[in-house]
Amino acid sequence: MPLTRKAYRAAILHSIADPTEVGIEASYEYFEDGLLVIDDGKISALGHASELLPTLPADIEINHYQDALITPGFIDTHIHLPQTGMVGSYGEQLLDWLNTYTFPCESQFGDKAHADEVADIFIKELLRNGTTTALVFGSVHPQSVNSFFEAAEKLDLRMIAGKVMMDRNAPDYLVDTAESSYVDSKALIERWHGKGRLHYAVTPRFAPTSTPEQLTLAGQLLTEYPDLYMQTHISENLKEIEWVKELFPERKGYLDVYDHYQLLGERSVFAHGVHLCDEECARLAETGSAISFCPTSNLFLGSGLFNLPMAEKHKLNVGLGTDVGGGTSFSLLQTLNEAYKVMQLQGARLSPFKSLYLATLGGARALRLEDKIGNLQPGSDADFLVLDYNATPLLSYRLKQSNNIAETLFVLMTLGDDRTVQQTYAAGALVHQR
Ligand code: GUN
Ligand code: ZN
Repeated sequence: MPLTRKAYRAAILHSIADPTEVGIEASYEYFEDGLLVIDDGKISALGHASELLPTLPADIEINHYQDALITPGFIDTHIHLPQTGMVGSYGEQLLDWLNTYTFPCESQFGDKAHADEVADIFIKELLRNGTTTALVFGSVHPQSVNSFFEAAEKLDLRMIAGKVMMDRNAPDYLVDTAESSYVDSKALIERWHGKGRLHYAVTPRFAPTSTPEQLTLAGQLLTEYPDLYMQTHISENLKEIEWVKELFPERKGYLDVYDHYQLLGERSVFAHGVHLCDEECARLAETGSAISFCPTSNLFLGSGLFNLPMAEKHKLNVGLGTDVGGGTSFSLLQTLNEAYKVMQLQGARLSPFKSLYLATLGGARALRLEDKIGNLQPGSDADFLVLDYNATPLLSYRLKQSNNIAETLFVLMTLGDDRTVQQTYAAGALVHQR
């Protein structure tokens, strides 16, 4: 007998495949009157309420929602914890934005009290927005990652994070050294990687802020521990790309820098990739690496339009990232709203089911966690959301005109935000209630 068993009855929707690969109809399951059964923090059954209810004991606790949609928790494949306090900073593109706003803001995270305070705000904000798993950049200070993991562990969240490695081209107050970054990362890996639902990501900020020695040691960490993640930035901004060429003239291009230091692989996630060429996409796909598509950031920092169709042509794994504080919202619904417009500006369409995929199963695949999160298949972690059709007067009125789940989903992604997330569950426990 399970220790805790609960059931949730509502409309239920989840992605089961990439619509680009299998077509829209085969990419999702939708139960208009569905039932989700949870045993000890894992999903044990999913189906039509009429079929599943008779199989359950009469005294089982059932939470029944009207005018609501249950989906998997959202997955944010790129976000910066120490930029929570500077989201929405005016007027600059990437390199000036880093120097003017980002580095001063991140400098505060050597202080434990500050790191604890912001980790708490950050996690609450993730959960308020329905994000149950995120791949997170800390600051250069190990404390930023300790504070984050301590808070995530208390709620048994599935989270991935790493301490930034940066040993040049940043203010003196914010750089580490190749050696100290290796030692500090190693200590964090030993303490956190594989503990509960936590995972560690080796985190060189981007090629310009690491010496060849530091990139070498980042690659070495990846060979020393199994299943570590690697996260960094790539080809976000044209001036950044020129700078990388100046700093690494012996390399073929931006991706080749990371390739040379053996940072590509199945658990490597590269943020942005706005200006990647065909050959680089092919190499990313060949190595099983993933891209995090960050539309609100790419628009806000004037970086450019991510070419999703090109990534799809190469069968590249793509997840969605908010990139807060370059991005302007913690909400993956709002991020999808902007992703749709980024595709429109390129004459392409982003279907609501592809959007759902990107925010859930696509993100899980980018992180190689699709057997645990990103969908509601029995056996998965019970990380799920209750989205409220009546979250705002306009949403409520607009959804009354909806004819089908495709339209409902698209409207949720266009009008929805944190207010839409009525409840967030992680490992079967309620971790946010609006
Ligand atoms: N490239 C290097 N650092 C950063 C960062 O903090 N944010 C973004 N968007 N790009 C970067
Ligand atoms: Zn970023």
